[in-house]
Amino acid sequence: MRHIYQQGSDLTAPVLVLFHGTGGTEQDLLPLAQAISPTSSVLSVRGNVLENGMPRFFRRLAEGIFDEEDLIFRTKEVYDFLDAAAIEHGFDRSNVVAIGYSNGANIAGSLLFHYPNAFRAAILHHPMVPRRGIPLPDLSDTPVFIGAGKNDPICSPEESEELERLLSDAGSDVHVHWENSGHQLTRSEVFAAAEWLKGIS
Ligand code: MLT
Repeated sequence: MRHIYQQGSDLTAPVLVLFHGTGGTEQDLLPLAQAISPTSSVLSVRGNVLENGMPRFFRRLAEGIFDEEDLIFRTKEVYDFLDAAAIEHGFDRSNVVAIGYSNGANIAGSLLFHYPNAFRAAILHHPMVPRRGIPLPDLSDTPVFIGAGKNDPICSPEESEELERLLSDAGSDVHVHWENSGHQLTRSEVFAAAEWLKGIS
């Protein structure tokens, strides 16, 4: 997968894996990594799917309606890519923290739903429930931060709460940070995510 890898100054700090939103690129979230954990190594990935020229991590049939078959295929593709990237770049695969926004949060969420050791922790900005009706792996060692907007028209508060419940039921220690805003990624939720990560590192 197309990506950027930047080695950090602290090789014991969590490796941040960045997943952009629809229409983004692997450049987009680099400032977020800097704000959240400036000494970390960073792997920033570009989604392999194009929707009208806009990169994404998996296909959708309509806004909020995912192509489940493609989602499962792309989730494995990212999982395999992370394993290969850890070998190629020489980082600790067991110390990876996902940071995703919107479609990027949804692919990161899907990795959590399908694989027990996908990430050491995950920061999901404005995620949705990636799949319903499947058993989740044991996530008791995988804390999750959810940044949600009370007026988010894409990820409703009810859906954010449903995701919190599903992850908690799988054993994850979930922290939901609420903003009064909509779908946009706000500075204050990024700061909240940075504080949260310090608390779990
Ligand atoms: C998705 O397709 O993953 C969600 O609708 C969020 C987005 O618009 O990218």
